[in-house]
Amino acid sequence: MTPEQIAVVKASWEQLRPVSEQTAFHFYTHLFEQHPELHGLFRTDTREQGHKLMAMLDTAVAALDDFAALEADIRALGARHVDYGVTDTHYVLFQDGLLWALNQGLGAAYTPDVEAAWRALFGRISAAMRNGSGNAP
Ligand code: HEM
Repeated sequence: MTPEQIAVVKASWEQLRPVSEQTAFHFYTHLFEQHPELHGLFRTDTREQGHKLMAMLDTAVAALDDFAALEADIRALGARHVDYGVTDTHYVLFQDGLLWALNQGLGAAYTPDVEAAWRALFGRISAAMRNGSGNAP
């Protein structure tokens, strides 16, 4: 990610913060509507799961200037996802859903630059998670 993209992600994350819990809830609701087969993988209640996802993203955004420091944690997260039944294909569906939810949460602030920066971040997180799962891209 470029320094500009890091700055864009951090700024848009702050804009999203007041509505982050609703955004996470919309994300999972939309994901399960679009891909009902994914619902069965989740044991945790959607609001609680949304809270965990946002906390993890908050940590990742805060660590963007030194992503390497977080890499081991993200790999371990990826390894746990293998146990949850998550496959490589799911990461694409998940990313599409997250971008959709960001668009909903940010409204007019969701510009092409914002989308590109978040795509870059998800690419980075997914790559580290899949590395941890033994499915290196
Ligand atoms: C950006 C990528 C992702 C992030 C940051 C993320 C984050 C998390 C976090 C923080 C948890 C809580 C449990 C733990 O720490 O092990 C979790 C659980 C889970 N995630 Fe993800 N995840 C990602 C991608 C995915 C994908 C692609 C799927 C597939 C649909 C998925 C499905 C699940 C499931 C099934 C659980 C277990 C829920 C339960 O407790 O029942 N995640 N995820």
